[in-house]
Amino acid sequence: MHARKMSARKGVLILLPAIALLLGGCEGTSWVTSNVSPNAAMTRDITVLLTVIAVAVFVVVEALLLYAAFRFSRPRAGEAQQTEGNQRIEIAWTVAPAVVLFILFVVSLQTLMGVSYSPEPARSGEGAFQGNALRVRAIGHQWWWEFDYPDYAFVTANVLHVPIGTVVNVEIESVDVIHSFWVPQLAGKTDAIPGQVNRMWFQANLGGTYLGQCAEFCGAQHADMRIQVIAEPSDAFEAWAKEQQAPVAQMTDAQSKQGEATFMTGACIGCHAINGTNAKGTMGPNLTKFGLRESFAGAILPNTPENVAAWLANPQKVKPANQMPNLGLSQEQIDQLVAYLENLK
Ligand code: CUA
Repeated sequence: MHARKMSARKGVLILLPAIALLLGGCEGTSWVTSNVSPNAAMTRDITVLLTVIAVAVFVVVEALLLYAAFRFSRPRAGEAQQTEGNQRIEIAWTVAPAVVLFILFVVSLQTLMGVSYSPEPARSGEGAFQGNALRVRAIGHQWWWEFDYPDYAFVTANVLHVPIGTVVNVEIESVDVIHSFWVPQLAGKTDAIPGQVNRMWFQANLGGTYLGQCAEFCGAQHADMRIQVIAEPSDAFEAWAKEQQAPVAQMTDAQSKQGEATFMTGACIGCHAINGTNAKGTMGPNLTKFGLRESFAGAILPNTPENVAAWLANPQKVKPANQMPNLGLSQEQIDQLVAYLENLK
């Protein structure tokens, strides 16, 4: 008896922090009970509805069970009234669950249609800007996301800028293994499957930065394959898009020019592209406007000169097993490359 009491207390001690973590741990970051995007709100609403119904059924059934157990377990309680063959009761307990399940079916179907079909679907084959919706291709790589804005003709990586209040139709692809595009506050998960285009949509109705995470195990750095969605007013978005489309500025200072020379003559161009230059690699992220990006390396590092220098010094130390090898750069080369990359604006 004593031992059992102790273990129950231990169980509570372990459970309580776990529950606290579950409820509060994700405060302010990626969490699923959001109504920022209409389809995230639909998902939240059905989650709440299902939980309420499930809890109500649980409480009623358990209450009856406990009542019967205690009421008829007393030594002199006597036998309970027998109801075998009572048609009314049998019809009631057949019809009641059927009605509950039918309601859940209708609500689930409604939600499924709502989150599956974009309110402003992109019409394939037309190429041009689709009505008021923004079209984005999200392409999974081990271990980063490529974001292609086909209607604006530029690509970027890891950070996805979108206008507030605009439907974003995302076409999800992969170049290697199965990944999954998931920004919990904006929408549910959609897998990125090689050789296939999966579609999803979201609409950020509130400005801000939303964090996402690859949600399908895809190798050593799966956990560090993140997404940063920045929702901003449409004029800010258009200004950002214009900057992305503009040609890269000429390097003016000696340090950056040296960095450019190192980049263009070294191994860098084998994997990276910079529009308008000889760098046309496709293995790694296109670095055309790297200096404008908020983060890099699968959105795990803020884009600061210190972080870029640490990355260049040994990418394998920062993100083991990623595709970029340690190039054995000298400190001088690193400083020059950092200057060049940060000036790619
Ligand atoms: Cu990509 Cu997990």
